[in-house]
Amino acid sequence: MRKKIVAGNWKMNLELNEGIALATEINQHFSTTPLNAKEVILCTPFIHLSMVSKLLDAPGLSAGAQNCNDHRSGAYTGEVSAAMIKSTGAANVIIGHSERRSYYGESDELLAAKTTEALHNGLRVIFCCGEVLAERESGIHFEVVGRQLEKGLFMLAEGEFKKCIIAYEPVWAIGTGVTASPAQAQEMHRFIRDLVEKRYGKAAAEETTILYGGSCKASNAAELFANPDVDGGLIGGASLVKEEFCNIVKAL
Ligand code: PGA
Repeated sequence: MRKKIVAGNWKMNLELNEGIALATEINQHFSTTPLNAKEVILCTPFIHLSMVSKLLDAPGLSAGAQNCNDHRSGAYTGEVSAAMIKSTGAANVIIGHSERRSYYGESDELLAAKTTEALHNGLRVIFCCGEVLAERESGIHFEVVGRQLEKGLFMLAEGEFKKCIIAYEPVWAIGTGVTASPAQAQEMHRFIRDLVEKRYGKAAAEETTILYGGSCKASNAAELFANPDVDGGLIGGASLVKEEFCNIVKAL
C-alpha cells in the first residue's frame, strides 16, 4: 500500500517564533489525534528546520526543507547543502517547486543533480512537476510534465526512485484560488503513474505516492483526495493555519 501524505510548504512565511508556535500546535494536535497510517510533513524555511524537526514527536509527523544545493559543500555563499538539512534531523526536501523553476531559473538538469544529492544524503525527495497555464491551454501539459519527470527524476535507479514522492502542481493553480478539478487532477496523476510504470514497472508505480498541490484547502481537499491516484496534497497557503491544515489532513 502506498503512503497517504499531506505536506505543508510554508514557503517564505513565518518568523522563527511564529513557525515554532505553529509546529508546536500541529504536533500537539497529532499527538492526541493519531495519524495512524497517514503521514504529515512540515516543509519549513531553513531557519526553522533544526528547531521544528526536534520538536516534532507525534508519530507520522516529520520536517522537511523546501530546497537544497546540488553541491556537497564549499564556496557557495548563501546556500544550504543536503547534508546540512539532514544534520538538523529533517527527513525530507522539496525539489523542483515551480517557484524555484521560474524565479530562480532551476533547470531540469540542475534539479536532477539536486535530487541525486538529496538522496545521497538520506533525504526523501518530494519532486514537483506541473505545467503553466499557456501550456495547458495549448494542450501540451502531458508533454511538459513527462519531460520534467524524465529529466529530473527518471535518471534514478529503481532503488533510489522508491525514496521519492511526486507532487503534481499545476502552476496556474498555485496560490491563485483556482484549483484543478478532481477530474483534471486524476487524469494527470494517472498519466504520471503510467509513466512510472513504463520506467520502473507496475509494482513501483503502485507504490509511488503522488500528491496534488495548488489551492488545495479544507473545503476542496476531500473531493481531490477521493480520486484513486491522488494520494494526498502539497499545501501552501492553507498550511499556515493550524485548523485549516489539520482539516485537510482529516479529509485524507
Ligand atoms: P498553494 O501552494 O496551496 O498556496 O496554492 C501550493 C504549493 O505551491 O506547494
